[in-house]
Amino acid sequence: MTRVIPQAGIDLLGRQAEVVVNDGDEPLSAERLQEEARRSDAVLTLLTDGVDADLLRSGDRLKCICNVAVGFDNIDVPAATAAGIAVTNTPGVLTDTTADFAFALLMAIARRVVEGDRYARAGRYTGWGIQLLLGADITGATLGIVGMGRIGQGMAKRAAGFDMTILYSDEVRQPPERERELNARYVDLDELFAVSDFVSLHTPLTPETRHLVSWERLNTMKPTACIINTSRGPVINEPELARALREGRIAGAALDVFENEPAIYSDLLDLENVILTPHIASASVATRTRMATMAAENCLALLAGERPPNILNPEVLESPQFRRRFELTGASA
Ligand code: GLV
Repeated sequence: MTRVIPQAGIDLLGRQAEVVVNDGDEPLSAERLQEEARRSDAVLTLLTDGVDADLLRSGDRLKCICNVAVGFDNIDVPAATAAGIAVTNTPGVLTDTTADFAFALLMAIARRVVEGDRYARAGRYTGWGIQLLLGADITGATLGIVGMGRIGQGMAKRAAGFDMTILYSDEVRQPPERERELNARYVDLDELFAVSDFVSLHTPLTPETRHLVSWERLNTMKPTACIINTSRGPVINEPELARALREGRIAGAALDVFENEPAIYSDLLDLENVILTPHIASASVATRTRMATMAAENCLALLAGERPPNILNPEVLESPQFRRRFELTGASA
């Protein structure tokens, strides 16, 4: 286990396996992670652990990487498959918690909640003002959802309660019946960015989505529009976003994820019209606990020779490389 996770996950694994936990404050270095992976049957990783081809090629014992996250861009899944190693994630359990947070960010940036808090704390509130901290209306506004997966759909459900017009863009179009249920209209990215009052990103990070939000794209948005990112930082080109915010090309941004976490592009720190949160969209007690137990369940299933409920590369289970790992070293669960 590369970091301490909620105790329920540690306990579940500990009943059937010898668990080694990095209980330090820092993530493991690439070398330590590789070293630990060589002597483990399974590694429970967090999204801050880079699992690359080098690590996956080293040693014969490792049989699975269980990410305690729904996103898995930190893991080279094709390299894992080639090496005969299963990869699992934790989908579904964080959908509502993350959509709640994305909607909270939308409301907070629209109505300048965090800016208002800073203003009040700084002792600047010296009298009610009819022009003070005017924001944008949410009710009736147009929301553009980039990526209509589970969390994108959760966002659409919340937006419906605010009578928003809902547009979405994705590689895959939802069936007409689902579009009707969500009251969402499928549009291309150009239209979505051009007409939305709020753009919320819910796409995985892939080569296609890296820097999807660029200077060019930002300049097609309304100057009154805001962008919300609870997906992955590199979907936005951060320096270009900072420039767009500084020059008033768009009105605001609320970011829970960053291009080079935990670093935040320094220009963003100086801007009033941006909300910055430390990758906490799924951070409720219940959800983080369930993510931990789900990763443990995936791990125990795999080591018991069963198909893990959330395997990302199921084809690996049939591969000779995968079987060889069990033949060589057995499993401890
Ligand atoms: C969080 O970002 C996750 O992918 O679970």
